[in-house]
Order: sequence, then C-alpha cells, then structure tokens
Amino acid sequence: MSNVTVIGTQWGDEGKGKIVDWLASRADIVVRFQGGHNAGHTLVVGEQVYKLSLLPSGLVRGKIGVIGNGVVVDPCALMIEIDRVTAQGLTVTPETLWIAENAPLILPVHGALDRAREAARGDRKIGTTGRGIGPAYEDKVARRAIRICDLAEPETLDWKLDEVLLHHNTLLAGLGADTFTKEELKAFLAEITPRLLPYSCAVWDRLDDARRAGRRILFEGAQAVMLDVDHGTYPFVTSSNTVAAVAASGSGVGPNSVGFVLGIAKAYTTRVGEGPFPSELYDAVGRTLGERGHEFGTVTGRPRRCGWFDAVLVRRACRVGGVSGIALTKLDVLDGLEEIAICVGYELDGEKITSFPSAPGAQARVKPIFETMPGWNETTAGARSWAELPAQAIKYVRRIEELIEAPVTLLSTSPERDDTILMRDPFED
Ligand code: IMP
Repeated sequence: MSNVTVIGTQWGDEGKGKIVDWLASRADIVVRFQGGHNAGHTLVVGEQVYKLSLLPSGLVRGKIGVIGNGVVVDPCALMIEIDRVTAQGLTVTPETLWIAENAPLILPVHGALDRAREAARGDRKIGTTGRGIGPAYEDKVARRAIRICDLAEPETLDWKLDEVLLHHNTLLAGLGADTFTKEELKAFLAEITPRLLPYSCAVWDRLDDARRAGRRILFEGAQAVMLDVDHGTYPFVTSSNTVAAVAASGSGVGPNSVGFVLGIAKAYTTRVGEGPFPSELYDAVGRTLGERGHEFGTVTGRPRRCGWFDAVLVRRACRVGGVSGIALTKLDVLDGLEEIAICVGYELDGEKITSFPSAPGAQARVKPIFETMPGWNETTAGARSWAELPAQAIKYVRRIEELIEAPVTLLSTSPERDDTILMRDPFED
C-alpha cells in the first residue's frame, strides 16, 4: 500500500478536483503542500457543490485535512471558506483540520503589492490571481514572513511587523499605492489569531505518526508543473514549486512518503494568465473547446486560453515531476471533432527542436509542429470501460502515452465521479 501524490502536468485546471475527490474517499488524510488560495476547485457531492481553494478536499469526505508548511495561508480566505463549508453542513474542527505552525501567512500588504506590481507592469503583466501569493513567498525566503506560530508571541510579532512594513511600505509608496500602518496590521492579526491558532500544530510530527500507523496519505498538489517556479514557463509561473518532490518538504515528511505520483493531464490544453502557449488555438476549434469544456477560471472567472494537447510539455512535466502514471481528463470534450492534433515538437528560428527552451524570448517564438489524426463521432462521455470507447479515441490515448512516455492510469470521461476508467489503483501500487 502506498501514499499518492497528485500534481497537474500542464498549466493547472486539468480537472484535479474530481480525481482528488475520488482518491480522497480512499485516503485517511489529505495534505495540501504548496500554493495558497490561488488554487480552486469545485467538488460535487450529492446535492452539494463545494468550492474549495485552500481547504484540502478530503474534508468534504470526512477525512483529516492538512495544510502543510509549504502553503501560504491567507487567514481571511481560510475563515471565509471554513464558514462557507460549515454552513453547507461540514464540520471543521482542530481534530479534522491541521495547519502547520510553521506555515507563512498572507497579509493584506501582500495582496496590495501583488496588485500594484501587476498594474505597474502594464502589457508585461504576469496575470497573477492578485491574491498576494508571490509577495508572501518572497517574504518567506527573505526571512521576514510572519508564520502562524508567531501569533502566539506578541514580542516576536512586534519586531517582525517592523521588518514587514519597512519593506512593503517602501515598495507600495514607490508604486503609488496606499501604505499600511503597524496598528492596522496588528488589528488584523489580533482579529484572526483566536480563530486560527487552535488549528495550528506540528504537522510533521502528526504525519510521521500517521505514516507509522500505516494510514493512507493523499498529497494534493495545486497549480501544475508548467507553473512551477523552477520548471515552468518562467517568469509566467506561480511562486512555488509544484512538482511532487515538494509534497515532502512542503509538509515535513521524507521523500519516500510521496508514493505513487499521479499526474493529471487534460486531453487538450488550457492556460489562464499570460505567458507562452505554443499549441494555443485562436480559431473556432479553440472556442469550441472552451465552450464545451466550460473553460473559465474557478478563482478569477477569466476565460481560459485553449489549444491542442502538447505532448512535449507533458513529457517534460512527467520527467521533472516524477510522474508514475497519468489521469487523462475531459476526453469527452473532443467528441465529434473531425480532426484532432497533438503538438509533437517545435520549430525555433527555422530549426526543429524536441524540447521546450528555457529563455522567455525563445519560448515566445517557438512554433508548434502538429501531428493530426481523425477524430471520432461517437460519444465518450460517461464511458466506464475501454470497451465503451470508440477505436479512434483509444488510438488517441495510446498515442499520447507513447509520446509522453508515461502510462495512462486513469481516464475521466465526465465530471461525474464514477465516470472514470481505472487501469490501475494508485493506492495499491
Ligand atoms: P499567482 O499564483 O497568483 O502568483 O499567479 C501566477 C500565475 O499562475 C498566473 O498565470 C495565474 O493565472 C496562474 N495560476 C495560479 N494558480 C492557478 C491555478 O490554480 N490554476 C491555473 N492557473 C493558476
């Protein structure tokens, strides 16, 4: 029996929610290990629709949810989410939600700086979610973050706030944005402390106990490898590492606890925000994918850019992400298309290349090389076995496996939890 780590292999929004929910029902503990409330997914359980961005999905299934030290925690967003799911009938208590005491907080200064910087960038903006994720991670690395455990030490908070304000007010003033006073931030922290502190604990210790007791742990990644701060389309990325290795450091367990790495890939590609996207479609097919796939950002509501499956990028994501198997989602969105294309390489300044370059100029200049194949007329929506899939759809999946050099372990054929074809149970690996 193994643990499972789920990561996105494209630019996020691969349909992780449904897969994580399915896996969560078979796990004991579900752990978020990076990102913050920039992530978002919708879980449908019976009549209830849960919109989560910071809470681990397992809570919806009555499992223990953990927010690891690798996550940046916006206390207001967290409390709003807890209140929302509580009103929907879930019970969130310090027994069911553990938050790492060494997790850094997102403060109001971080959102303000994120938005002021994006505004100042103009045409060169990154297209962030504006939620302060980047500035909060910067503060963590710069050693001035306020961490949850600091809330219990007024004397620590006092000097740390001086450091935070010195840095952020200088930047905010330079950008022509409103600055903050120490009293404002103190009042903010005083308000959230009594609600937040009871959840805080030594997550690493509890997870170690859980591991020894043989409990199944599901590590729930947010964003995706192409948004990873090292391996993604830098600088058009998020500010955390999103690869599976971070499940360990972002929650305080050893690398051997990561277990089976399930990479989620959509049967085509989407992206929100700015940045290179070689297989992007600007035509009616792109619009069809967007409409059929309901491709609007869960967090910001922005329409997602759509394009063909990029096998080169997913192959890279599988390699750097340590992917053991792929869950391919939204195959049904391709139903009825006359022809389907897969990006199998690029042309850069007249030369053929088979991997994605690292420099932003070259990333923007690459032109996709497509391999095309006929589509299928039959519907794949709702299929629960290979036998129910049209031959052409099976060929498409097999070709993807060949190109990305990873097996498709799970195929999702509709938003319904049970419309899934399982080739291999990741927990039994
Ligand atoms: P940030 O994470 O808010 O700093 O945004 C940086 C980039 O990551 C932007 O392009 C966002 O649109 C993108 N991003 C962040 N979180 C997600 C996500 O959960 N899904 C898809 N894109 C995301």
